[in-house]
Amino acid sequence: MIICRTITELKEQIGLLRKKEKSIGFVPTMGYLHEGHASLLRYSAEDNDATVLSIFVNPLQFGPNEDLDRYPRDEKRDLALAEECGTDIVFMPSVQEMYPAKPLTTVIVNQVTDRLCGASRPGHFDGVGTVVSKLFHLVQPDKAYFGMKDAQQVAVIQQMVNDLNFPVDIIPCPIVREPDGLALSSRNVYLNAEQRQQAVVLSQTLEKASDWLKEPGMTVERLLARVKVQIDKAAETAIDYAELLYYPSLQPPAANAPINTLNQPLILALAVKFGATRLIDNRLLHANEVNVHVQNDDEVKAAPGNRY
Ligand code: PAJ
Repeated sequence: MIICRTITELKEQIGLLRKKEKSIGFVPTMGYLHEGHASLLRYSAEDNDATVLSIFVNPLQFGPNEDLDRYPRDEKRDLALAEECGTDIVFMPSVQEMYPAKPLTTVIVNQVTDRLCGASRPGHFDGVGTVVSKLFHLVQPDKAYFGMKDAQQVAVIQQMVNDLNFPVDIIPCPIVREPDGLALSSRNVYLNAEQRQQAVVLSQTLEKASDWLKEPGMTVERLLARVKVQIDKAAETAIDYAELLYYPSLQPPAANAPINTLNQPLILALAVKFGATRLIDNRLLHANEVNVHVQNDDEVKAAPGNRY
């Protein structure tokens, strides 16, 4: 496994791969890798001749009161896990290397960023779009792998790639969870024991909601009200958002619409604070007139453009 800390080193390695006409899979991350990241690396290693991992805690996507300074890091462990997953090249640049000066050109994706994390974290997706577009230019991947844990990020990157004709296929990958259902996240280390127990309310509520939405006459607003009550029952939480939107447009259906009349895929997306730690989770749902149907993991994977 080759480690590149500078753009010059990376360009040299990518040049060699391109010369040999090797296909390149790319997994961008901010490090502190866990099984969620590892799953993306394994998919990439399976699909491509070479896999490039980037580890870069991107200051541009953090707000002034967010956790940039305390974002967890463990370079040694990251490299060991990356190697185990079949990574060929790790790009781990410094902030100075990526941003020698404040960039005057940024990528702003409109509309799909109006809600959810786009609304709660102003500027966040401008930072994500900008860094991912820089990384795509540097790595020149054929395929890039993103987790549906950050479903809005997938929609934003796919929109950017479509709008700006990036020559890369975006491969959305399923959410990897702990045995009790908590979605893996680098931020889970911030939770104390009690908060860790409470955090399972996210996945449990998504699971329950997928049954509630089958009830005859269930509307968007009734479902969301029930979701909020369910989360509030878990002590010491503050709901940042709980929304049911069309996916991937991330536009809202009418609040009083019966869910079984909605004919496009939906996403139920949650962001909840446990103490100072904000966690997100989501579930894709598909409702239609004939039969309200919740996608299971195999169907998510089987959907066009997905990993399988
Ligand atoms: P990071 O939070 O490190 O996540 C890197 C990738 O891992 C993202 O595509 C994310 O969706 C995926 N991921 C995280 N947890 C996952 C889980 N439990 N299951 C499946 N995939 C999971 O997302 C970012 O970094 C940054 O915004 C980045 C794209 C690197 C730009 O800076």
